[in-house]
Amino acid sequence: MAKQMYIPAFLFLLLIFQGCEEEKIIPKKGYIPNSPKETTTLNAGYFWIAQNEINSPYWKEADYVKVNLTNQSTGKLYKEGYLNMTGTFNGKMDFNNGKNDSLIIKAGYDDENIYILVEWNDESTNASFMTWLWNGPADPLKPDSNEGWTAQKNSDKLFIGFQLPNDKKDIWKWDLAATAPFSAAENMTMKNDGSFITDRISPIIPNNDGSLNNGPLYEWNGERQEITSQTGTTLLDPAHYLLDLNKTPFIGDVEVGESIFNGKADCRFCHGLNGNGIPDGYTEGGKLQKASVNRYSRTGLKNYISSSRHEGSGSQYFGKIKNNPTEVENLISFLRCISGLPGTILNSENYITDITAKSNTTIGRIDEENKRYQVLFIRKLKASYEGDITFDTNNAYTISIGCSDNDDINYIGDNNITLTFNSSKL
Ligand code: HEC
Repeated sequence: MAKQMYIPAFLFLLLIFQGCEEEKIIPKKGYIPNSPKETTTLNAGYFWIAQNEINSPYWKEADYVKVNLTNQSTGKLYKEGYLNMTGTFNGKMDFNNGKNDSLIIKAGYDDENIYILVEWNDESTNASFMTWLWNGPADPLKPDSNEGWTAQKNSDKLFIGFQLPNDKKDIWKWDLAATAPFSAAENMTMKNDGSFITDRISPIIPNNDGSLNNGPLYEWNGERQEITSQTGTTLLDPAHYLLDLNKTPFIGDVEVGESIFNGKADCRFCHGLNGNGIPDGYTEGGKLQKASVNRYSRTGLKNYISSSRHEGSGSQYFGKIKNNPTEVENLISFLRCISGLPGTILNSENYITDITAKSNTTIGRIDEENKRYQVLFIRKLKASYEGDITFDTNNAYTISIGCSDNDDINYIGDNNITLTFNSSKL
């Protein structure tokens, strides 16, 4: 069947106004935009001009499916040493503090690609996978000791799966810690026993020597972290990401740093025990167990702490140790690790995928108070790799969707969304 070249009204206007400097569509008198309707089947509308940004006009007018998320995998825990990484442990009850009810999904296609936009609420942004913490928080779900090194905090994730023959699924997995910096999704296959195989290269390498007792191998070198991917250059927040090109060996003795912080230098006086924000003295220095501390380089931290900008005469306390370089490095190492050091290293050279996934998250500086995620998947209709799904726009497909909040092994979702292609719509 020949494809109908139907130009929807708003795209026609887009063509006319393409020459304008602003990308705004000025509706002609009498133009009635489509008001998005909830549908039961996910209908991918056809367009001539790629709608490849989250704020491309098509997405404001496209009909949508409201997915009712139900518990898919719950009650799973990580092995010893990994703490507080199961934010969706009780499924819906836990996800987004139990407040999340639904997820919105929209689809479209052009001659080359399929586009799927997914939106859901999540009041916290978790962007780190296996973050190293020194004497970090205990896990209420586990009896493990939280003394010394633990790998903590996980990332938010979303996957879409397409049913393939032989009970397999082609999975596109978006992960704030691992794939979002590349504006991409991981390409995976799920077998019928539920286990995953990553078809294409995984971009993350653990930042440890194979043991969870020895702490991190590397830290950030203090230089701008930039990743160049198929969609351009992205700046990375050093509080959450460590890029292979910007790594330097982690130095210093954190345990000694801890005793200097609480003892000799008495930073505790204003910042509380281990920087917990509950001061011993009269001056409140605030919590130091927070991401912003790791947005300083080592030199930046030293400069700030010893400067007059360090309010409340904090610099005088630093003065007690500042002439001893070893003590200074140990103290800085301690500050790094109460805030969390990335537990994984991103290797951009390792990254090959055919799935673009753009998100509304600002990777350059992770906003921990993000309220709503938007992720736009873009992939060729035709599979680039053997075993992946090829879309025939005359057919219907069954999609499953799942998401997790600070988790990788527990998730909520829906297994039964029907995708169709509609050549004459919008
Ligand atoms: C007399 C009180 C006081 C003492 C002692 C003190 N500080 Fe501070 N410190 C402050 C105040 C006040 C701030 C500013 C807090 C703010 O702006 O949120 C601050 C800020 C900081 C920051 C920046 C936090 C950020 O997120 O930007 C760091 C790091 C820091 N202090 C480290 C130290 C260290 C290490 C010591 C011990 C050598 C120390 N401070 C001792 C009062 C103190």
